[in-house]
Amino acid sequence: MYLDVALEAAQAAGEVIRASLARPVDVQSKGLRNYVTDVDLEAERVILDVLNRRCPEHDVLTEESPPEARRSRYRWVIDPIDGTLNFTRGHPCFSVSVALTLDDAPLLGVVYDPLRDQCFAARAGQGATCDGVPLHTSGTEAMIEAVIGMDWTRDAASRARNAALIGRLSQSCNVIRSCGSAALALGYVAAGWWDAYWHLSLQPWDAAAGALIVREAGGQVTDLAGQRWELDTAPLLASNGKLHARLCAEIAEVGRSSSDSDPRLGVLEQT
Ligand code: 2AM
Ligand code: CA
Repeated sequence: MYLDVALEAAQAAGEVIRASLARPVDVQSKGLRNYVTDVDLEAERVILDVLNRRCPEHDVLTEESPPEARRSRYRWVIDPIDGTLNFTRGHPCFSVSVALTLDDAPLLGVVYDPLRDQCFAARAGQGATCDGVPLHTSGTEAMIEAVIGMDWTRDAASRARNAALIGRLSQSCNVIRSCGSAALALGYVAAGWWDAYWHLSLQPWDAAAGALIVREAGGQVTDLAGQRWELDTAPLLASNGKLHARLCAEIAEVGRSSSDSDPRLGVLEQT
């Protein structure tokens, strides 16, 4: 079964990551605020070994390798380390993300935390689990109770928009947190540890597994305007569903208040 393939691949990458903790890691920059290490590459290699052995007929899209020409309707979408910056600092908050898509719709997904040996998983239509135990998003309905996660993008303009969103939502929710691994954050929403999460610019490999896990745990995933989220949609809002409309409404307010002027002023206009 393909979920076993995903689990085998994620756990093989987890072993590589855990073994690397005892040695120095080679960190390279691949752009503004964007890093790759020899461990990302080695973890990706062991995932590809598993996929080539068990599903050689399927396509693969991974963060650290150039995209291949499409041959199959099935495609594995892989992030060998989601949260590489945390990993380079020894901050124990990163994950391995493995999803299988059919015609670009996630069929199954695994988000594996190699340090806690904790595995969030889902199959389309079959619910979500954490280490085999069924997962359900939270029942939080009141914004003032909401624990909301977000992560930072890399470019100045979207960071200004994030700052404006924080300025607005911090007034209405309980707290805003940032863990540095989008895939893990989606696991937290699925588990009900967080009530919602947003990111302005995700890549398919960051979100393919986690978005399915949230939906299968009973949550909602859209773009930040509440419109349909698909694999190539960069902005993502995930929630327990109960808070989704309210979050979209507040996010739209920030858009309106900052669209007439420098978006960096959006945060000031709210206060
Ligand atoms: P990464 O560690 O694989 O690069 C931190 O902000 C989280 O969001 C991480 O999961 C990071 O993935 C991802 N991320 C941050 N900025 C991003 C961007 N501009 N595009 C895609 N993913 C991003
Ligand atoms: Ca990565």
